Amino acid sequence: MVDLAKFVRDIPDYPKPGILFRDITPMLADPAALKAAAEAMAAPFVDMKIDVVAAAEARGFIFAAPVAIQLGAGFVPIRKPGKLPFDLHSFAYELEYGSDELQVHVDGVKAGQRVLIIDDLLATGGTVEACCRLLEKCDAEIVGCSFLIHLAKLGGQERLSPYKCHSVLTYD
Ligand code: PRP
Ligand code: ADE
Repeated sequence: MVDLAKFVRDIPDYPKPGILFRDITPMLADPAALKAAAEAMAAPFVDMKIDVVAAAEARGFIFAAPVAIQLGAGFVPIRKPGKLPFDLHSFAYELEYGSDELQVHVDGVKAGQRVLIIDDLLATGGTVEACCRLLEKCDAEIVGCSFLIHLAKLGGQERLSPYKCHSVLTYD
């Protein structure tokens, strides 16, 4: 069994003073840890008939594709402005450090499809809440959200309370 917490590197004051950045690049570089992380994120959803896994760039993409393959699901990218070429839904949101906007193709998810949202990390919940809003504009059914890391003090779980959330590692 892989101790995934050993592969998270803490970087104080990045990207600005007061933020403790949880750096997952050591985990991504380790074959066994990467596999174990993706499997742990997918595990609660294997029997939940997921049609589509959706994730926001950039770090969400890393885990979304392997989780989608495990679940026998497709993958829909949610991107920052200026990256997607077709008709779009958009949603603006606040981050732990700054603000941003996310977009998805209007036909990215079909009405009624069962969607799992993936991200590497849950902080304030702004990113994944924006993903949920976007996909609800497609009339998708949000089955749940799965994260590698949950920063529990930042209120993301509460913000996402309408949705089933799963996290592999939790930090106070
Ligand atoms: C990070 C992280 C999550 C989000 C979590 O992404 O990958 O998507 O922040 O924070 P929240 O719960 O407060 O929204 P970031 O926007 O830094 O972009 P990146 O994936 O391109 O690094
Ligand atoms: N995204 C938002 N907050 C973060 C943090 N503290 N560490 C890594 N990624 C983040």
